[in-house]
Amino acid sequence: MAAATTKLLLSDLASTVKSVPSNYIRPISDRPNLTEVQISDGSIPLVDLQVLNGPSRLDIIKQIGQACQHDGFFQVKNHGIPETIINNMLTIARAFFKLPESERLKSYSDDPSKSTRLSTSFNVNTEKISNWRDYLRLHCYPLQDYMHEWPSNPPSFRYNYVRGLVLRLPEAISESKHGQHMALNYCPPCPQPDLTYGLPGHTDPNLITVLLQDDVPGLQVLRNGKWLPVSPIPNTFIVNIGDQMQVLSNDLYKSVLHRALVNCDKERISIPRFYCPSPDAVIAPAKDLIDERHLAFYKNFTYAEYYQKFWNRGLAAEGCLDLFEVSTA
Ligand code: OGA
Ligand code: NI
Repeated sequence: MAAATTKLLLSDLASTVKSVPSNYIRPISDRPNLTEVQISDGSIPLVDLQVLNGPSRLDIIKQIGQACQHDGFFQVKNHGIPETIINNMLTIARAFFKLPESERLKSYSDDPSKSTRLSTSFNVNTEKISNWRDYLRLHCYPLQDYMHEWPSNPPSFRYNYVRGLVLRLPEAISESKHGQHMALNYCPPCPQPDLTYGLPGHTDPNLITVLLQDDVPGLQVLRNGKWLPVSPIPNTFIVNIGDQMQVLSNDLYKSVLHRALVNCDKERISIPRFYCPSPDAVIAPAKDLIDERHLAFYKNFTYAEYYQKFWNRGLAAEGCLDLFEVSTA
């Protein structure tokens, strides 16, 4: 027992074990293959962003609005990020997690407030059950404030990650007052994938997330009470609504539960980019949506308050929106 559990990072433990260590095993009621939860058919909408520049722009905007209301998720193609950049980002992420342990540990921290850090699971300070994942989190806006903290190994890390940041969502984000974080998620092969998660069901605490996944399936999205696997499509990004957008839209747009499964023979890399309000931004349902007949469902709060609750509460609670609802009593 002692030898295996002294590793800080899962990447250095996973290949040494033939079964999942007990701290990764979920209670029977909370495992990926719940027989009562069916796998849903279909897929989340795929939006062609090139059409935004043409005569059918309004159709696409309507399609995106529908997706935000019904699925909370959509995929985008023809987004303008070259295939070589996408492939480089995935290759470099893989290479980063293959660096010698001593090299990777230079970035290690379990303090969620640090702007660049490598860690494992979700929040090792508060959680009881671990997730089958290591991750590197990077703040990336304003870029010049953070880039010097990023890993300098592999050597082309900074170059390629900066080039991967060109996807802008200017309509959705206030340009002056926001933050962007990125994560490199690494899930090593898992000897017993039915006992654990890469990430258990959760909603994202930020405004909008844009996720790049490699070609290994794992992401599932909750739709009508069923889990819908999101099959990887090369060169597409997955976009999802986070908790802050649900609050701003007063529940019109949905921050939907999703999770990441692991598998026995392949490692999986995913790279989400989280668009966030700045910490002192006051979040509340947009005034235009509120009147005597449409009451606000949420109290005012700052993003910093919300974000702190998110990291303290952990992923077990499936989100923190309930803590900020207007009480109906
Ligand atoms: C996340 C997330 C999904 C994935 O990092 O918040 O939901 O497929 N990731 O890794
Ligand atoms: Ni997520």
